[in-house]
Amino acid sequence: MLTVQYSGNMKSLFTKEHRNQLQQIHQNIYEKKGEGSDFLGWVDAPSKTNEELVNQLIETAETIRKQSQVLIVIGIGGSYLGARAVIEAMNPYFQKNDVEVLFAGHQVSGAYLKELIEYIDDKDVSLNVISKSGTTTEPAMAFRFLQKYMEERYGDEASSRIFATTDAEKGALLKVAEEKGYKRFVVPDDIGGRYSVFTPVGLLPIAVAGYDIKTLLAGAKDAEKELEETLLEDNPAIQYATIRHSMYEDGLTNEVFASFEPKLHYIQEWWKQLFGESEGKDGKGIFPVSVTYTTDLHSLGQYIQDGKRNLFETFLMVDQVDEDLNLISSETDEDQLNYIAGLSLHEFNEVAYKGTSEAHLSGGVPQVTIRLPKIDEYNIGYLLYFYMLTCAYSGYLLGVNPFDQPGVEAYKTNIFKLLKKPGY
Ligand code: PA5
Repeated sequence: MLTVQYSGNMKSLFTKEHRNQLQQIHQNIYEKKGEGSDFLGWVDAPSKTNEELVNQLIETAETIRKQSQVLIVIGIGGSYLGARAVIEAMNPYFQKNDVEVLFAGHQVSGAYLKELIEYIDDKDVSLNVISKSGTTTEPAMAFRFLQKYMEERYGDEASSRIFATTDAEKGALLKVAEEKGYKRFVVPDDIGGRYSVFTPVGLLPIAVAGYDIKTLLAGAKDAEKELEETLLEDNPAIQYATIRHSMYEDGLTNEVFASFEPKLHYIQEWWKQLFGESEGKDGKGIFPVSVTYTTDLHSLGQYIQDGKRNLFETFLMVDQVDEDLNLISSETDEDQLNYIAGLSLHEFNEVAYKGTSEAHLSGGVPQVTIRLPKIDEYNIGYLLYFYMLTCAYSGYLLGVNPFDQPGVEAYKTNIFKLLKKPGY
């Protein structure tokens, strides 16, 4: 189990009133009651995902791996961030996997799409187009270009290289997939985009990248069981949600997710979407920000130490690393680093964490530290489930529905009006 540490007194946060509120939330989540309960399918998704579906996903991933050097995942928000978070946390820094997973439709850039098409032109390609609604503009535009490219390049074979992940029963993408005969996977009705990493939305691209989705699901399944059974005060998801809520009540409305591991960048992006889109509504919510240290100690570190005191910091620390280097000693010692010769870079980061957290704490920034045993499929599965559950508790503590996103409609309506879309 991962652990949560707090720079303040955690026990004092569990007042009788708070415990009662948590008991109610806990019961509502597991009995699938309360606001937004139609979207609580992710709570038992890891244990309910049947083996047949997992095997089908693995077989399809094998087919894609055999026929392709590149898989392009087309999707935005929850339809791409989960897969990207896991793949980038697991990927080596420089060595390319046998099948490269690239992304499109998560922004609108002509240069990106043009260069992507040039890049894949001498490589075998498959597409996985993912959209629950089937009408999201950015992925739909990217799919127009890439579908045409695939049809021109592969002719009839294109339909066996395009895989669609859609709603079970509705949406434009579902219709296209049926007409064209694409192999199709389903996003369950009761699971929203940002909670969908343990469905085919996340699992298919992750399996194509060569990672073990059974172990990823095993981590999530253990999190599901342990976090359901662990008592309130000892439960890491409830601890984290409680600390966040108490910070918010103290006027600290920005949470800085700090990590010392650059591979966790997309986990941070996924986390920002999860918490930002789930909590930021009705004039409430903690604004999620992320930094990677020590890089950002030379930029945002100044603000965190010394700027406006409206933030708290949450470190994600990884206990064990597979690869490391010990600092070498130098004959001349001109940079005066010989005093730490022999220290591993992982050990250095642990010291940097201690130094940074003490400095920021003395600068008035309270802290949470989440400790993950290591970066592998099992622990990432556990971590992502833990974040989703924390987010549900946090949203309910705040008094918002953590599963809708009414605020994202306003900009879309404006764009459609400006573009004179019929009906707007
Ligand atoms: O969390 C969410 O529901 C959203 O971020 C969606 O995932 C995102 O807007 C993409 O939606 P769709 O899968 O319908 O294209």
